Amino acid sequence: MNVLILGSGGREHAFAWKLSQSKKLKNLFIAPGNAGTASVGKNVEIGVTDFEAIKKFVLDNQIDMVVVGPEDPLVKGIFDYFEADNQLKKIPVIGPQKAGAQLEGSKDFSKQFMIRHNIPTARYQTFTKQTLRDGLAFLETLEPPFVLKADGLAAGKGVVIPTTLEDAKKELTDMLANAKFGAASAKVVIEEFLKGIELSVFVLTDGNSYKILPSAKDYKRIGEGDKGLNTGGMGAISPVPFADEAFIKKVEERVIIPTINGLKKDGIVYKGFIFIGLMNNNGDPQVIEYNVRMGDPETEAVIPRIKSDLLDLFEGVGNGNLHEKTVEVDERFATTVMMVAGGYPETYEKGDIVSGLELVEGSIAFHAGTKQDGNNVVTNGGRVIAITSFGTSMAEALKNSFANAERIQYKNKYYRRDIGKDLEVYFK
Ligand code: AMP
Ligand code: GLY
Repeated sequence: MNVLILGSGGREHAFAWKLSQSKKLKNLFIAPGNAGTASVGKNVEIGVTDFEAIKKFVLDNQIDMVVVGPEDPLVKGIFDYFEADNQLKKIPVIGPQKAGAQLEGSKDFSKQFMIRHNIPTARYQTFTKQTLRDGLAFLETLEPPFVLKADGLAAGKGVVIPTTLEDAKKELTDMLANAKFGAASAKVVIEEFLKGIELSVFVLTDGNSYKILPSAKDYKRIGEGDKGLNTGGMGAISPVPFADEAFIKKVEERVIIPTINGLKKDGIVYKGFIFIGLMNNNGDPQVIEYNVRMGDPETEAVIPRIKSDLLDLFEGVGNGNLHEKTVEVDERFATTVMMVAGGYPETYEKGDIVSGLELVEGSIAFHAGTKQDGNNVVTNGGRVIAITSFGTSMAEALKNSFANAERIQYKNKYYRRDIGKDLEVYFK
C-alpha cells in the first residue's frame, strides 16, 4: 500500500517509523514531515489543510490511505472532502468525519455529547457575550478553582483555571466581551473543577468495533514539578501504573462503549483515534476532554508498545473489519522525554544545528521539530526531539531516555528531568 501521513511532529515520526515496518507498505509519504520522517519515508511539501494539493498528490501517487496526525484537517473536514469526491471516496482517511471532529473542535459540543450519552464529566454551563452577566453570576455559585474553556480550538491555550473569583470574572469577561481567543472564545464553557490524577486512554475505532490502546500520562507544564506555562507536552509514560485492569474496565464500560454508541446514535461516522483525557477520581474515571487524534508526545510512548502491524489495524478501520484484528502490546514500560528549544512555549529560536543524534543508543529519537538543512539537522519548532526508551521498569526506561537526552546537543536545549517522578509512589 501507498500511505500518506499528514503532519510534521513527533507523533507523525512515530507513525511513520511504525508504518515503515509493515510488510503491507510499499511507499510512505509524509506531508510536510520533518528531518526524522525523511529517514523512513519521503517528505512532500504540502500543508495539512491544503485539501486540493493533497487530492492532487493522492491521485498522482496512487495513495491507498491517508493517516491524519493533527486535529486541524479533521475539524476542517478532510474526511468529508474525500467522501464527497468521486475520485477520492474509496481511499480511506484515518480520522473522523467533520461532525465527529467537533468532539475536539467545540468544548460545548463535546460537553453536550457527554451529557446526552450519560458519560461521566464535570458539571458545566456555556455562556456567550449576550449571557455574560449570567456567566458572572454562575461563577459566584462555584467553589474555586474555576475552570473556563474557550469553546473552539485555541492552540492548546484555551483553558484557564483561575484560583480567585475576581480573576475568574475578569477572565470570563476577557474571553467573551474582549474576544481574548478570537472566535474560539465566542462561547465559553465554565465547569466544575475535578480532583484527582490525570491520564489519557486511546481508542482506535472503525465506527462499530474498537480497540483500547495502551494508556499514557503526559506532562503538560514547561517546568519541573509541573509548574509554569502549558506546553504541547514535555514527556509521556506508558503504561500508567494506576490504570490497572479494573480501572480500564470502568473506563470501557462508562466511557468508551457509551462514546462509540453515542456517535452511532448521533449518526456520526467515526473511523480513527479517540483520545480520552480522564481524571481518575479515587478510582472513578471522569472525562476532561476528547481529542479526535492521537496525543503528542503520548504517541511516541504508545505506538512503540504496539507489536501488531499498525497498517493492518488501519486497514481494519478503513474496511470496517477492525473486529477481526488483534492488538498485541509490549508489556514493558515506554518513556518519552521531550527535548525543547530554550524559551519554549514562548519565543524561541529556530535553525540551530542538532548534533549527537548518531550517538543515541538504546532509545528512539523521534523528531518533533526539525528539518534537514544541507548536511545538518536543525531545530524547526519549540519541541525538537522526543526520546523514547523501553525498560522492564519505568525507572530503567527513564534512565535510558535521560542518558540519550544528554548525548544530543543544540543551543539552549532544555528538557524536564522529573518526567515520571510523580508516579514513583506506585512502585514503592
Ligand atoms: P483540556 O484542554 O480540556 O484538556 O484542559 C487542559 C487541562 O486543564 C487539562 O489537561 C487539565 O489538567 C485541566 N482541566 C481541564 N478541565 C478540568 C477540570 N474540569 N478540572 C480540573 N482540571 C481540568
Ligand atoms: N499531549 C497532549 C495533546 O496531544 O493534546
